[in-house]
Amino acid sequence: MKQERRKPIRVDFNNMRAEFIGKEGISARELNKVKPAALAAAEAYNAGRGNGMMGWTELPYNQDETVKDILKTAKEISEKFDNFVVLGIGGSALGPFAVFNALCHLRHNDLSKRRRNNAPRFFVEDNVDPERMSALLDVIDVKKTAFNVITKSGSTSETMSQYLIISDILKKKVGEKWNEHIIATTDSENGNLIKLARENNFKTFFIPSGVGGRFSELCPVGLLPAAVLGIDVYALLDGAKYTDGSAREAGGDIFKNAALMSAATQYIAIKKGKNISVMMPYADSLKYMADWYCQLWGESLGKENDLDGNKVYAGQTPVKALGVTDQHSQVQLYTEGPFDKVVTIIGVEKYRKTFKIANGCEEYPNVNFLCGHTLNELITNERIATEYALAKAQRLNRTIIMPSVNAYTVGQLIMFFQIETAYLGAMLNIDAFNQPGVEEGKNATYALFGRKGYEAKKAEIESAPKKSRRFII
Ligand code: PA5
Repeated sequence: MKQERRKPIRVDFNNMRAEFIGKEGISARELNKVKPAALAAAEAYNAGRGNGMMGWTELPYNQDETVKDILKTAKEISEKFDNFVVLGIGGSALGPFAVFNALCHLRHNDLSKRRRNNAPRFFVEDNVDPERMSALLDVIDVKKTAFNVITKSGSTSETMSQYLIISDILKKKVGEKWNEHIIATTDSENGNLIKLARENNFKTFFIPSGVGGRFSELCPVGLLPAAVLGIDVYALLDGAKYTDGSAREAGGDIFKNAALMSAATQYIAIKKGKNISVMMPYADSLKYMADWYCQLWGESLGKENDLDGNKVYAGQTPVKALGVTDQHSQVQLYTEGPFDKVVTIIGVEKYRKTFKIANGCEEYPNVNFLCGHTLNELITNERIATEYALAKAQRLNRTIIMPSVNAYTVGQLIMFFQIETAYLGAMLNIDAFNQPGVEEGKNATYALFGRKGYEAKKAEIESAPKKSRRFII
């Protein structure tokens, strides 16, 4: 890869500072006060590497053989199939979709196969809306489609119901070789999917232990779809390696470790009542990175109890926004509404395309001033203007600067947010890697379906107060 594509992402924290935005901002004193907690979080990250649920820290280093298998399989898939469909939800879907949008043509599925560099069309089905399933089947020919069933637990109702529907259709339409259309990505030992994979001889990839759903984009969950799409998976992993290596080396020095400065400033912001974290990329390609971030941030940090069993109700509500689109929607609230947010802007220094604004409208100076400039200048100036407007209104904001959007910088970005999340989890003294709140909803669904073993949960649901018809109007 060319040297210029190997540039590091940077984070500008100036608009988080009291010196810049006034009393709502973070003072030097506040920053100094959290330094010991930040240092402890960095030490915990370095010491915990690879242990327990921190297996994701090792993914840039320990997947040589897996990546070879992924690349070989991806080539076969591209040659054989016109469509590649991910069946999964949450951490088993958001990463693949975010990386697809970041690194493929923004209208990938509308291009001819040649213009897609022979990659199949790509779909991520992360819902069980019957209309959506029906719509998918209207636009794909299952005989020309590979389905990547992704579920770590191998038992998630949404994914398994999709599996049941698709495998039934494949058996009817493809016959004996239906199993060649399914690739299972799951735990190597636990769950139903691995049993089905063995029974039916599906090609399988494994989600390593210690890699939770929302931390799994850099294992086969994300790498296989990326490789099928022709994305440079080595560059993705190298980007992640760079960020992890820098964080590890810089350790507890918040002025050298951007992920730690991020966690420390978010920690202070939360204590100052900033309970909302807005993620606002100024690039359509990164729109779904904001969705991925929302799950990572929300599910990891939203916790009732701390590690000592105290009720803490921790967390910061993630909100996605898109620059410049949401300047005409949400930014009014961000600049004049409650002082309860930190806005993270993602700026891109060099977009992959340059688009000139054509000359014209000479008699209309209010329009003509745009002529001769580029959309690149417009989107960049609007970003800078939003940063300025937020700062002027004393709203905390920081900017992540991506030199350009490519596999290397996207790998960095993914790792950056994962490390920031781990650091902040440690500073908040919570378990950032479990999701008991999600489990409760899953169990209630099983109970509503009368699944064996969930009788007590069903009784609990049935004993809840009945809804009043008066309030259904
Ligand atoms: O981050 C998580 O652990 C969750 O969001 C899971 O990814 C999601 O619930 C899907 O689980 P599974 O991959 O087991 O089907």
